[in-house]
Order: sequence, then C-alpha cells, then structure tokens
Amino acid sequence: MTQISWFQNKHIVLGVTGGIACYKACELARELGRRGAIVQVVMTKAATAFVSALTFQALTGREVKVSILDPEAEAGMGHIELARWADLVLVAPCTANTMALLAQGQAPDLLSTVWAAAACEKAIAPAMNQHMWEHPETQANLERLSAKAQVIGPDSGIQACGDVGSGRMSAALEIANTLETTLNHGPLAGRRVVITAGPTQEPVDPVRYLGNRSSGKMGFALAEVANRLGAAVTLITGPVHLETLAGVNRIDVETASDMHAAVHSTLKGVDLFIGAAAVCDFRPASVSKQKLKKSKDDLSQIMLTENIDIIHSVANSPNRPSLVIGFAAETELVLEHARQKLTTKSLDAVIANCVASGEIFGQNETEATIVFSDSDQKLVPGTKSEVSQEIFAILSPLLAKGTRNEPEI
Ligand code: C5P
Repeated sequence: MTQISWFQNKHIVLGVTGGIACYKACELARELGRRGAIVQVVMTKAATAFVSALTFQALTGREVKVSILDPEAEAGMGHIELARWADLVLVAPCTANTMALLAQGQAPDLLSTVWAAAACEKAIAPAMNQHMWEHPETQANLERLSAKAQVIGPDSGIQACGDVGSGRMSAALEIANTLETTLNHGPLAGRRVVITAGPTQEPVDPVRYLGNRSSGKMGFALAEVANRLGAAVTLITGPVHLETLAGVNRIDVETASDMHAAVHSTLKGVDLFIGAAAVCDFRPASVSKQKLKKSKDDLSQIMLTENIDIIHSVANSPNRPSLVIGFAAETELVLEHARQKLTTKSLDAVIANCVASGEIFGQNETEATIVFSDSDQKLVPGTKSEVSQEIFAILSPLLAKGTRNEPEI
C-alpha cells in the first residue's frame, strides 16, 4: 500500500549530538528516509566519537556535515544554506550541553549555528543521564526550548550508565510518529480519531476460530486519509495482512472483547470514532483447552454467546466522541437496515454497503451511501482510499462545527 506521509519530500536537518543514544539516531535517519524525507545529518564533533559519519552517509545517501567552515558550501556559509533548506531541524539525541547552547542562542558549532539561523519547524529528543536531566539548569533550558521547539521524550527506564530514571531518548518510531502528527496542519489537525478495522477472531480451541471475510482495507484506507488530513489516528485492528501505516498508532487485537477493551482505553478526548471493523456478533461460550477431536467431540455442541456491541458502547459512553460513525454491510434493504442501525446504536451516521454479490470484501474498490438521520448521500464509487476522502470531506466540516446535532449559532 502506498504510504502518504508528512515527511514525503521534506528536507530534514537531523542534528546528532554526542551521547550513547547516537545509535538510535541511525534508526531515526532510516525511518525518516523510509517515510520519504530527504535527510541531511549534521553531527557535533562529540557525536562522531560514538557513530561514524560514514554510517549516516550510507543511511541517508548524503555526505554528513560536521564543520562550520565548509569551503564546499556556497560562499562558505553552510549554516545559512542548511537553515534555508530545512523544513525541520530535529536534534536527536540532544545532550544537556546542546540543549544549553540551543536554549541560550549560543552558536559555537555547525549544528547550533543552523539551529539559530533556521526559521522552520524545530524539535529535540533529549537524551542524558537522569541527574543531568533533572538538574535545575537543564530544566530551565527545557522550559526555554519548549517555547520555540517541540520536545519529544525523554523516556524513563534503565540508562546506558546503569541508572534507572528519566533521560532515555525516545524510540525512533515514536519520534517519527509524534512529528508526523504534530507537524501536519491539514483540516483534521489537532483532531483525534479512532478507527476499528478488520475482522475479529473468536477462538474455538487452540487452533480454530470463528471469523469473517473482512480484509481491513476500508478501515486502513480511512486511517491513512485521516492521518494525511492531520488527525492523530489510532487504528485498532483485528488480524489482517496489511502493513502498518506511517504515522498511525496501530493496536492489534484478536477478539471482540480485546477490541472493546482497546477502544475504551483510547476513547478519552477522541473527536471521531469510526467502526469499520466486522466484529463477530458471537463467540464460543467456552474455549476448549485442547484441540477438539472429530472422533470424540460433537462439534454441533459448540455453544455461542453474544459479543458486546462495541460501537453501541462507544456511542453511549461518558467519553462519547463528537461523531460516532458505523458501517452497515447488508445484502438487502440496505438503506432501511442502515437507518435502523443509526437509531438502535445511537450513531451520527452509517456508511452503508451492499454486499449481496460479496464483491466488496477484500476488494480495493467500494460503493457506499452515507446515511444521516435526516438525509442520505450516495458516494461516488471508487477505490477505498477515494471513498475515504469523500467520507472525510463530508465529516470534517461537521467536526469543525462540534457535533452534527449541535444547534448552529
Ligand atoms: O450490527 P452490525 O454488526 O451489522 O453493525 C455494524 C456496525 O457495528 C459496524 O460499524 C461495526 O464495526 C459495529 N459493530 C461493533 N461491535 C459489534 C458488532 C458490530 O462495533 N459487536
């Protein structure tokens, strides 16, 4: 699947300073490149003692800059060129020393000079010993830097020096995901969206399950488009064969009750919930510890019990998002059934598909109608991504207003 990322074709100056977390910066350089960014690494002299410039050159395909006096740069002003070129200056790892330089506008080397000269987006991922991190001067520098740059991390845990505490550089994936979300200024910027996708699998015994034909493609397409429009997206998916989408927070689950728990753990502060998952309505009442044997066990004896309706529980939760949107895959009386679901599940809209021919499950194309309590709108048939774009073109203005049911002022 094509990955559309904020980083696509963006110019990133990745500043690497001298700490053991430099090894994580290698992963980060790779991850940014994987998302389509053009990465120019600038290292401090101390950083070159931890990881060689050659490593970053191999990972980014660009010669690493270390010296402020670069005779190759236009008019000998490499720092200004780099500052103008960059869409983002990201310093990761950022040591206490570099934090102090950046916070105080000091510019003794290339990286701090680029930082001072750059008017673009800026971010740091601090990494240092816990006592250095907690030092009042570091905390004062952090406060100054937070006003002009995004600060990602640090994490807590066991440190390279043997201490346990705060100061570990955040993981490369977390840094990239955080930036992906916060730097995107699309129409859904600042909005939080939770989407369920795929089937659920309800175990019968250690090797068998009840499931369905959902591929997860619709939910994944919705998640990708919402992310591209600037939303912070959590995608809670049953077992599918689809790649993790760039910038999307993916939670993998297996059963309906796992999905229910995952959904409710993420619901606080969510603006929009879309239930695109084909949740199994029933599960075996008890799961056999041993594989059922055809000779011994009468399979007609498998008792079923009803699964909780996740979207209904979301729509009736104290944390109810402004918009709760369901899907209705029907084989007949599509709009009537969709309208019924809208009411019984307390939804704001239902996206109705006709699956009579079975031609939508697993396909890249779809046809759907979005059903509100007072109107319907047939969507132009297309790929699941195109239909997702139409869906968000309809939903985004409703979110901007608050809820659809809110009176207009
Ligand atoms: O009732 P039905 O399963 O046809 O409704 C489909 C809609 O309800 C979808 O949005 C689906 O994600 C959601 N659903 C749910 N939990 C269930 C069953 C369905 O969230 N247990």
